[in-house]
Amino acid sequence: MNLRTVTAEIDLSALDHNLNTIKKMAPDSQVLAVLKANAYGHGLERIAKALPQADALGVARIDEALALRASGIIKPIVLLEGFFSKEDLAVIAVNNFQTIVHNQEQLNLICQAELDRPLKVWLKIDTGMHRLGINPDDFECFYQQLKQSKNVQNTLVLMSHLASADDVSNPSNEQQISLFNEISVGLPEQKSLSNSAGVCAWPTAHFQWIRPGLMLYGVSPMQHSFTQQALPQQTDNTNLAIQPVMTLKARLIAIRSLAKGEYVGYGGNWQSQQDSVIGVLAIGYGDGYPRHAENGTPVLLNGRRVTLVGRVSMDMITVDLGKDSSDKIGDIATLWGKDLPVEEVAQHATTIPYELLCNITRRVQMITV
Ligand SMILES: Cc1ncc(COP(=O)(O)O)c(C=O)c1O
Repeated sequence: MNLRTVTAEIDLSALDHNLNTIKKMAPDSQVLAVLKANAYGHGLERIAKALPQADALGVARIDEALALRASGIIKPIVLLEGFFSKEDLAVIAVNNFQTIVHNQEQLNLICQAELDRPLKVWLKIDTGMHRLGINPDDFECFYQQLKQSKNVQNTLVLMSHLASADDVSNPSNEQQISLFNEISVGLPEQKSLSNSAGVCAWPTAHFQWIRPGLMLYGVSPMQHSFTQQALPQQTDNTNLAIQPVMTLKARLIAIRSLAKGEYVGYGGNWQSQQDSVIGVLAIGYGDGYPRHAENGTPVLLNGRRVTLVGRVSMDMITVDLGKDSSDKIGDIATLWGKDLPVEEVAQHATTIPYELLCNITRRVQMITV
């Protein structure tokens, strides 16, 4: 295997498979594929080019949108946080980006601008998340002004965002869907409410545009809990028939015998309960492996699960190979991805898969497979 120290294998056939799965779940909706934060750590341009079937791409920042255009992407690109100045608006118009409007400042800027062409606007309404979006009481005023502005295309997309779509027992979902319907009833505009969890759990929130991110990358958006023994085929993402796109791998660079009672790593925060063999893998928080991964976090090596022991260092982690280990220096371990869900690793690091994927650093070698 061509491995320097750490690689993230990016499986584009899994990406394609996931998009098809999503389309089957919401057959009447168009797909805005969410590619912000370097396509959740998978490589913005690589992922954009591998999604010819997506109807539009969504990013958070104008720089991300510009990078897509610079790499030759001609698909519609939606700025999910909108714009912040009249200079931004000029860039949006020239590059034919679509933009969200979610506050009064943006409404003023867009209505007062001198633009060469009208922009496609997604009007974001706060139906209960209380992050971005206009107050429902202000909807009529925003809607009328946007509809009348020469700088805005004739048809808008009305959108909102679910705060707890991953929690099927949370009543706020139904409340947000009802409020969204109430506000937009009878209007001729397209609508959009669902992120990945909305696609999975809330069919009444699919509308004309779905906005999947996490699920595209083969990660379950639903709340779940793993046990140590959880087998890959029992995990949520297999039930959803999605496949992990990123598999993170690192090389075994040292093998050490350890006597019962000895300590491992900075601060000696793990003590061996029996004679064992410790493996050192060349990956650490400098690569994006979570520093807070706890003792016991699973790692795959030579067809079995071994566990992280001792503190995560900048460039290395240590794993307990067991006293009968026949592993060899140069063997390749999987930190997450195929056969080891990132959801499970995230749980051991008291974080979420989104953060682990986004945090992969530039020194990790990305390989498209
Ligand atoms: C407005 C909006 N829509 C869709 C998404 C995609 O969410 P997910 O990755 O959970 O599918 C995000 C991501 O946070 C978002 O901010």
